Amino acid sequence: MTADSEKDIKYLKAIGRVCALALKKMMKEAKPGMTTAELDNIGSEFLKKEGATSAPQAMYQFPGATCISISPVIAHGIPNDHVLSEGELINIDVSAEMDGYFSDTGASMVVAKHIPEYEKILEATRSALNKAVHAAVARQPLNIIGKTIQQEAKQNGFNVIYELTGHGIGRHLHEEPSAVHNFFKQDERRILNEGLVLAIEPFLTTGKGRVVEKKDHWSLQTTDKTMAAQFEHTIIVTKNEPIILTLA
Ligand code: CO
Ligand code: CO
Repeated sequence: MTADSEKDIKYLKAIGRVCALALKKMMKEAKPGMTTAELDNIGSEFLKKEGATSAPQAMYQFPGATCISISPVIAHGIPNDHVLSEGELINIDVSAEMDGYFSDTGASMVVAKHIPEYEKILEATRSALNKAVHAAVARQPLNIIGKTIQQEAKQNGFNVIYELTGHGIGRHLHEEPSAVHNFFKQDERRILNEGLVLAIEPFLTTGKGRVVEKKDHWSLQTTDKTMAAQFEHTIIVTKNEPIILTLA
């Protein structure tokens, strides 16, 4: 959507904040010995308490309120009886709706441990998101997002995951512009307009950058079972600095 009124901005900020706080709480409470279903429940209860509805549940009948993916699964992991253990690389993705507005945020982390090998990909992915968010300025080509993310990935010795993309958001979880690629795409001609609401989500990996759906018909895992990381923010594009909606 294009946010073109104070009302739009106010409601987008409200749901953005709820998603950000839910994610922050889940990251803080992710501990060894806890199942991913228990962790999902923490997020679910928080969303309910704030008056928000899980977007994947409401829109896609996803079997969980949030997506919790255990590496090498990097997206759409189903919360279940998997017990978290120290040193696991996981991704939590929270998207929700409130008063007819949607927001989407995500982060990767290591459970209860500092592992330098993982910290490197986490830092590079965080940095790619940060640079892409600030490159997304009104009247710039949409391609600048993918170009920025791919450059940052390469510079740090990683690949992007080609099939996983950012997207327009606002009145639905996924809307136009669809497929905001995490790489420079030759034939991409779309231009960013002022007020455009976008979910930007770089996915970086040490592998080839391809994913495959697992037998549960949801979980997306790297084909070569290499590690991957994702960070995501929902923003409003402006002529200058973006409005980042999913800051806790
Ligand atoms: Co997301
Ligand atoms: Co998203």
